[in-house]
Amino acid sequence: MSMRSNMKTVRISIIGFGYVGAGLAEVIRRKRADLVSTYGLDVRIVGIADLNGIFIDEQGLDEAELLKLRTGAKDWERPGGMTTLELIKELDYEVMVETTHTDVTSGQPGLTHITTALESGRHVVTSNKGPLALEYSRLTDLAAAQGCALKYEATVGGAMPLISLIRDNLAGNGVLSIQGILNGTCNYILTRMAEEGLPYEHVLKEAQELGYAEADPSSDVKGLDTAVKLVILANSVFGMNATYRDVEVTGITAITPDALKLADDAGYVIKLIGEVSREGCLKARPRLVPKDDPLNVGGTLNVATIKTDLAGDITVIGKGAGPIEAASAILADIISIYR
Ligand code: HSE
Repeated sequence: MSMRSNMKTVRISIIGFGYVGAGLAEVIRRKRADLVSTYGLDVRIVGIADLNGIFIDEQGLDEAELLKLRTGAKDWERPGGMTTLELIKELDYEVMVETTHTDVTSGQPGLTHITTALESGRHVVTSNKGPLALEYSRLTDLAAAQGCALKYEATVGGAMPLISLIRDNLAGNGVLSIQGILNGTCNYILTRMAEEGLPYEHVLKEAQELGYAEADPSSDVKGLDTAVKLVILANSVFGMNATYRDVEVTGITAITPDALKLADDAGYVIKLIGEVSREGCLKARPRLVPKDDPLNVGGTLNVATIKTDLAGDITVIGKGAGPIEAASAILADIISIYR
């Protein structure tokens, strides 16, 4: 590995070591040399915290060792009885990555973690949708007041660039609306039911086994997860002050194989489409999509069409969930803080 003279050490903590937190450790392990040679960043995980315990090492933890925690080949520890909030406040590091599970009712525990990190002067990168869907304005104001970054590309569309695409590459454009498929679990269920006539319960179980579904999959299939992502877009792209309660939501639980067959015969597919517009439209509902429409993507893919005043329509397609995919967005957010 060639070391650059202007190398910057970036110490991160990872709060929540489930699929996504461990995915980030794996990605940092794989990308260490590239991070140094391309970006001049020496990224070290100096602390991780989970409900099960804590690991810290101010010189940097060994990612391969940490990954053994996920397979049960290594036991959790908790040095000195340290709590997660103590780690967030007291450890020496620059960026807290918050990857605990999404709870849209309370936003917890992510909301407290993010607030505490920002109040302690740490940058925050998160994949946790709950805190942003509930308290977007308070958190972004707090980050600005503290001179800290708050980045959340992984919350909407996983690996699919959307928020940074609009902010950076489409800068200067007025965004008229965004519509698309923002939930991989629903897309997987509808695709498998339509293409293979499989029953709903069977396909939902498959989506859970793939690690796509939320801890409580009813939030996927009832449309709540899509609503939460729309709210993050509404607030961050359109400057609204919405919460998920403002979204008109219909899930996919009432979609039958017969309905999918009828749509198919008429040249359509049924997709759970989220839509947000600058006029204030906020809807997540099943819609008929022509088979040749760019929004007709299958499997677990996500897709979004951004309607703009200068660039016209831009459609992005990508993997909306998965540990390495979410970690891709998190890593890009970390790098962007130091560019
Ligand atoms: N449960 C979500 C989905 C995960 O299926 O898209 C990513 O937010």
